[in-house]
Amino acid sequence: MSSSSSTYSLSPSITPEVLNTPGTQRSVLFDDDVVADPLNIDGSTSTFIMVVGGLGYIGSHTVLELLKEGYNVLVIDDLSNSYETVLNRVRGLAIDFCTAHGRRMPALHFRQLDYRSAHMKTVLASYSSYSIISKPAPAPARFPYSTLQRTDSGIDMDMDDAQEPAVERLSRISGVIHFAAYKSVEESIRMPLRYYSNNVCGLVDFLGLLEEFGIKNFVFSSSATVYGEGANCGLPLREELCVHHPESFLDSDGAERRVLPGVLGLTSPYGRSKFMCESILADLALSDPTWSITALRYFNPVGCHESGILGEDPRQKPSNLIPVIATVLTGTKPVLDIFGTDWNTPDGTAVRDFIHVVDLARGHIAALAASTAGRTLAPFRTYNLGTGRGHTVREVLQSLEDASQRKIPVREVGRRAGDVGFCVAEVRRAETELQWKAERSLNDCSGDVWNFTKARCVES
Ligand code: NAD
Ligand code: WQD
Repeated sequence: MSSSSSTYSLSPSITPEVLNTPGTQRSVLFDDDVVADPLNIDGSTSTFIMVVGGLGYIGSHTVLELLKEGYNVLVIDDLSNSYETVLNRVRGLAIDFCTAHGRRMPALHFRQLDYRSAHMKTVLASYSSYSIISKPAPAPARFPYSTLQRTDSGIDMDMDDAQEPAVERLSRISGVIHFAAYKSVEESIRMPLRYYSNNVCGLVDFLGLLEEFGIKNFVFSSSATVYGEGANCGLPLREELCVHHPESFLDSDGAERRVLPGVLGLTSPYGRSKFMCESILADLALSDPTWSITALRYFNPVGCHESGILGEDPRQKPSNLIPVIATVLTGTKPVLDIFGTDWNTPDGTAVRDFIHVVDLARGHIAALAASTAGRTLAPFRTYNLGTGRGHTVREVLQSLEDASQRKIPVREVGRRAGDVGFCVAEVRRAETELQWKAERSLNDCSGDVWNFTKARCVES
């Protein structure tokens, strides 16, 4: 994967930001073979994938898969919904894998930082190389009392500036995977501004910063939530059901259909924030097709690493189905509330497309690879990451009872506000263009969650 470059002029008054080095809140460099040299002129060309929100549930599993694939990784996380211990777990698992396969452990760097903070600029500068491009000597001055001269192109230009060497900035960050966001639907209804600030405004400023550093390979964590009410159509959801610019496509019956931007029935600020972010990314790519932006629409990520060492460990109280079931299994919560038993589904409980988090993590590597190989068909492209198969809430429950060999007490209550009855991915686009497919089953997810839950009980 190539690194990204941008050129600017090094004038005495404008030194690269790296020369001022205000400290980040916290910085951990886990190796010294690839040093983040503050002014790395013509130095190391090792590239990194920057993973923002990389210590969270999906981010941590993705960082591990990146390391296993040999990518150097720079993690940015403010630990607002994760713990630093996750970094040690990821590192340990990656070292075990590399040792077992006779591979060299890639670099794993960490900055504890809000991705909206001004320090991000310093971090990006420290992952840039600078090379001086020599320019031909300027013609002798014709106007001794002025440095302003008319150039061949007819533009007045300060020849003092023209004599300065140009500095090419080459970013060693070859791609960004952006997980950082707040994700509680319920909290987003109570605190919409907190969500729009982190998820939307943060993204806008961050994209501007990346552009400044010539980093234009971007993978975004989106969600099936962008389909809104469309999910209730009862069919697997195809990407064209939510677009940001008009699109034409061939329907399953072979008829050409034209879709217009927009979506009906987004029920929370969280859901809207994901839709807004996608729209912003689509507009950016339309204005500048040198960007390669992949928005991955996750369905229901569940499960954890098979070792039971890495899993879902948020600071926030869990509200998703499987993490809640885990709290019932550990006895922290007495009973599982089943929200709705009157949906139009085989057993009356809602159907979801549960995807193992390791499969999901590997989807990000596939997205990076597809972008590098030019297989993503447009500068902005959306992909569903799901299995294409639905399971009811009761099936999930049964699967976890089988894995744990325990009975899980339940109470049937009414539907949860904003829920849809059916949400399953159409997965052909990801299979064809990303050459990626989910491999693990619901029972694999349950077995791994039970491993992790048992291990956490022993630890505490
Ligand atoms: P998570 O909360 O476990 O991980 C997010 C990480 O980002 C956390 O470690 C948190 O500390 C960090 N973070 C948040 N704001 C930050 C900021 N301003 N600066 C730096 N770090 C920040 O969530 P997750 O489940 O891993 O989800 C990751 C992404 O995937 C999110 O964007 C989420 O909206 C999206 N998503 C998640 C699901 C799901 O069910 N888990 C489904 C669809 C989409
Ligand atoms: C699944 C099913 C619940 C808890 C949410 C977000 C979505 C995405 C993934 C981020 C539903 C039922 C749940 C419980 C229950 N996140 N349930 N008892 O609602 O499909 O999606 O997470 O992008 O945006 O909305 O996932 O796991 O919360 O619920 O009966 O205690 O389980 O009603 O039918 P959901 P979920």
